[in-house]
Amino acid sequence: MLLLVVRLSRLAFIASSLSLVDGFNPTATSSQSLRPAYWFSFGDSYTQTGFNITTGPLPSPGNPLGNPAYPGDTATPGENWIDVATTKSNHSLVLTFNFAFSGATVSRDIVPPYADFVRTLPDQIDELVAWDNGNTKRVWRSDDALFSIWIGINDIDLSYASDVNHTALTDKLITRYFEQVEDLYNLGARNFLFINVPPLNRTPSLLGQPASVRAKEAGIIAYYNAQLREGVRAFRQRKRHQKRREVKTWEYDAYEAFTRVLDRPGEYGFNNVTGDDGTPGQFWYNWLHPVSAAQVIFGREIGELLAGTPW
Ligand SMILES: *[C@@H]1O[C@H](CO)[C@@H](O)[C@H](O)[C@H]1NC(C)=O
Ligand SMILES: *[C@@H]1O[C@H](CO)[C@@H](O)[C@H](O)[C@H]1NC(C)=O
Ligand SMILES: *[C@@H]1O[C@H](CO)[C@@H](O)[C@H](O)[C@H]1NC(C)=O
Ligand SMILES: *[C@@H]1O[C@H](CO)[C@@H](O)[C@H](O)[C@H]1NC(C)=O
Repeated sequence: MLLLVVRLSRLAFIASSLSLVDGFNPTATSSQSLRPAYWFSFGDSYTQTGFNITTGPLPSPGNPLGNPAYPGDTATPGENWIDVATTKSNHSLVLTFNFAFSGATVSRDIVPPYADFVRTLPDQIDELVAWDNGNTKRVWRSDDALFSIWIGINDIDLSYASDVNHTALTDKLITRYFEQVEDLYNLGARNFLFINVPPLNRTPSLLGQPASVRAKEAGIIAYYNAQLREGVRAFRQRKRHQKRREVKTWEYDAYEAFTRVLDRPGEYGFNNVTGDDGTPGQFWYNWLHPVSAAQVIFGREIGELLAGTPW
């Protein structure tokens, strides 16, 4: 356990709970070993695979992300982190329902997405609820389902340049974020993975801007990530006070991970951290998306963070 702690802290991961295996042991009995684990993921283009819960096919053994065919409609050609976390760095058979939708924001009324059809975080949660309500019997259990949220990227990308009080805006976003986390909790969610906002100020879309603009965005990201971390802490504390000790949270520090790779790209197989035109060796693609090779790194690290869990 000590080794695990050391390794996690070296990678600047924060595991809020190290009692990871209680309550779920996929190999405990033969009947349990047939049960898959479930992963419900919410987010934006960094996570999206184009999954559609109404058309099917739904995730199943042998096809753990359902539709479309693996690796799905990812933002950059190839696998993304949720593909890898589901099929390669997974710790049991994991069926992933990926509601992430390109362009998504925390809430339409706070930062409207770039187009009306974009499914924001509450829209994505509604899709899960509608499906759940349509099932005669719930297929997942609180102890075998993980709920992940990676959002905030579009909220900041769409608002950093506007002349508003960004402290107040971020406070609003984070308050709404955790209202939606409570909604998930009330639905039965007990295991949560939170992922913060990467250094968008280092994306090609910002590199062409004056240093002062990049610094302003960096400040907004730092405040968002600090408030997200504080929100997770407050959520955990609230649940402890309510004696809901089964609630577990994990945090993947995407800000740290992106920074580490961008600072020492050669160690991770990249030779270009400014271009985004698809030339091999580049970290970025399409303005602000990490290429698949970078996504694979993050998917593997998230797998390490979840070591000892079914996911
Ligand atoms: C899923 O497909 C249906 C039917 O084509 C469509 O109406 C719906 O918008 C799709 N959902 C998502 C999340 O793309
Ligand atoms: C991880 O997922 C893949 C794809 O569903 C599956 O074949 C494999 O057995 C899983 N790994 C573990 C350790 O269960
Ligand atoms: C911006 O909002 C924060 C938080 O609501 C507030 O404390 C601060 O005074 C505001 N700043 C200005 C310049 O209005
Ligand atoms: C990175 O890629 C861009 C676009 O192809 C190119 O203009 C730039 O010179 C490259 N930078 C390095 C350090 O190779």
